[in-house]
Amino acid sequence: TWSMRAYAEVAVEQIRAQVKDGHAICALSGGVDSAVAALLVHRAIGDRLRCIFVDNGVLRANERQQVEEVFGRMFHLPLVTVDARARFLGQLAGVTDPEQKRKIIGREFIGVFEEEVERLAQHGERAAFLVQGTLYPDVIESVSFKGPSATIKSHHNVGGLPEKMKLALVEPLRELFKDEVRRLGLELGLPKESVQRQPFPGPGLAIRVLGEVTEARLELVRRADVIVQEEIRAAGLYEKLWQAFAVLLPVRSVGVMGDERTYESTCAIRAIESTDGMTGDWARLPYELLARLSSRIINEVRGINRVVYDISSKPPATIEWE
Ligand code: XMP
Repeated sequence: TWSMRAYAEVAVEQIRAQVKDGHAICALSGGVDSAVAALLVHRAIGDRLRCIFVDNGVLRANERQQVEEVFGRMFHLPLVTVDARARFLGQLAGVTDPEQKRKIIGREFIGVFEEEVERLAQHGERAAFLVQGTLYPDVIESVSFKGPSATIKSHHNVGGLPEKMKLALVEPLRELFKDEVRRLGLELGLPKESVQRQPFPGPGLAIRVLGEVTEARLELVRRADVIVQEEIRAAGLYEKLWQAFAVLLPVRSVGVMGDERTYESTCAIRAIESTDGMTGDWARLPYELLARLSSRIINEVRGINRVVYDISSKPPATIEWE
């Protein structure tokens, strides 16, 4: 749209004025906000922007490949992927407490990011700027919001990084709402799938595997989640729902398969209607869709023998289970 084209032009000028001939870094999360922020900055300063994508081992199926595809091959953004899977999973081993999981992931992320920035500096790219996809609601929230989600769950982001690393923030989306960021993303040429992507939490699948996070349990939730994504899209509901995903419960139950008794894991499906994630209602998914989800997950994911549907609204339940 015209207004977003104009916005992009002004933003690019402002970024140039701020960064001058300096270097900037951006942590890509796979989400739309960091993607759009990175594209704007890349337009402004070219390859003096360096993007960092951390594979923390708790990503969904194909997530890393998609980021590399879109940013590396489509946009030719200077992108480093750091494979930190072993580091994160090592730190998460044996941990079951949700807050503890979040803290570990936040801490390790900062560690990995700092090391990478230092490594780039050794190669002559000393960054003075950190690009963040902060939106207008985030600005408002950090100024005035002291409500439940600020205290009940410590949301993971790169907070604390800029002061510690003495980086100046570049936040080209500070004046925009989510729908405007999506329009801007389309204007900048991001594919529709990237722009419409449902939110995915920073701590990733670690908070969707209840109980201990192991490779085997991650694989179960990953495979169940692929089926949820496929079926929700096939039903034409992906863009109507705030989020739809699978959660692996720390519960095993008895089932039968052929003549065999099974004793395996339970998967919960969560589908939420919301406009901002602050409140939400469980989606009244058609029974046929629920039936397909259940039979596909149980038949295709060995290790899950029971599927349940979460019918809790927020509040009092939260969207994520941890
Ligand atoms: P809850 O579970 O608090 O989630 O109802 C509200 C929205 O926020 C997302 N969420 C997170 N996003 N880091 C994030 O970046 C987090 O730690 C985190 N926890 C929850 C959640 O997916 C939902 O969209």
